[in-house]
Amino acid sequence: FKRPKIALIGGGQIGGVLAQLCALRELGDVVMYDIVEDMPQGKCLDIAEASRVDRFDVEVKGTNDYADIEGADICIVTAGLPRKPGMSRDDLLTTNANIIKTVAENIKKYAPDSHVIVISNPLDAMVTLMREVTGFPHNRVYGQAGVLDSSRFASFIAWELGLSVKDINALVLGGHGDTMVPLVRYANVNGIPVMELLEQKYGDAAKAKEVMDAIVERTRKAGGEVVALLKKGSAFYSPASSAIAMAEAVLRDQKRVLPVCAWLNGEYGVKDMYLGVPAVLGANGVEKVIELSLNEEEQAMLDNSINAVKKLIEDMKRLGFL
Ligand code: APR
Repeated sequence: FKRPKIALIGGGQIGGVLAQLCALRELGDVVMYDIVEDMPQGKCLDIAEASRVDRFDVEVKGTNDYADIEGADICIVTAGLPRKPGMSRDDLLTTNANIIKTVAENIKKYAPDSHVIVISNPLDAMVTLMREVTGFPHNRVYGQAGVLDSSRFASFIAWELGLSVKDINALVLGGHGDTMVPLVRYANVNGIPVMELLEQKYGDAAKAKEVMDAIVERTRKAGGEVVALLKKGSAFYSPASSAIAMAEAVLRDQKRVLPVCAWLNGEYGVKDMYLGVPAVLGANGVEKVIELSLNEEEQAMLDNSINAVKKLIEDMKRLGFL
């Protein structure tokens, strides 16, 4: 038997947390690639030297040579620049597209059978480019955005209601940008609609709606809220945790139902495009996209988000990346 091999492409803020989480959960042996000389080696040595204290029997190694990702089962990509205060995720397009193109060529060369989870922004565009350059089947190339956006949405609901976040189920659809669609109607506390609990709390439907509108708005802007506070760089703990949940679902064939940036083939009225939707994640990657019925208002918000992603894809075509 062999332990799974996890390649982390990008050893920055998110890459570091990814490596540590892979080790703590013993998901597999980790190889972290970065262009910065010695840095991934140093970071991984630091993590690996805690193996006795944290009790993990996996290797964690850094490299500046793509050949070391050879045979990886799963690649998690964070290479690229993060946002600076005031920047939108879309502002990163050209810089990160150039980086992702090179990353994709090397994944294709050294890990042709791997699954690829993309985290680099602008997410929907970078996943599309990764798929295009690798030529991998669509079920093996997907992006992390919805797990984090949904976790943020659930956290804000839990804090508002003063209830355990473990009992909150909340889902965010659409592209990973300001047009994302937090689904209020489906948000529940172990089956109890969140709106019902908010109405009980405030004794007033209008006030409950106002509170929920603010939660939705905070969810849409949550990444920017962290960027503004950090001053340097963007969120890294929560994106890493979210991608690890996805990698674990695949490596352990868990068939989890998670919001994933997945390839659509007619679902939600969308054809041949990546978009954030609930999907079954297991050993075959995105095994199934789950469709749910949307009312007119929800569909209009999703259409708005679809148009924003389409615009990104058109920009990539115009710039010659696709
Ligand atoms: N090949 C490999 N790695 C690269 C390349 C490249 N061509 N160019 C840059 N990198 C590396 C950087 O050296 C850096 O270590 O990518 C890493 C990115 O790390 P950070 O700058 O710390 O960014 P991080 O917070 O990890 O976010 C990475 O994820 O959420 C998105 O918007 C975010 O696009 C950003 C990405």
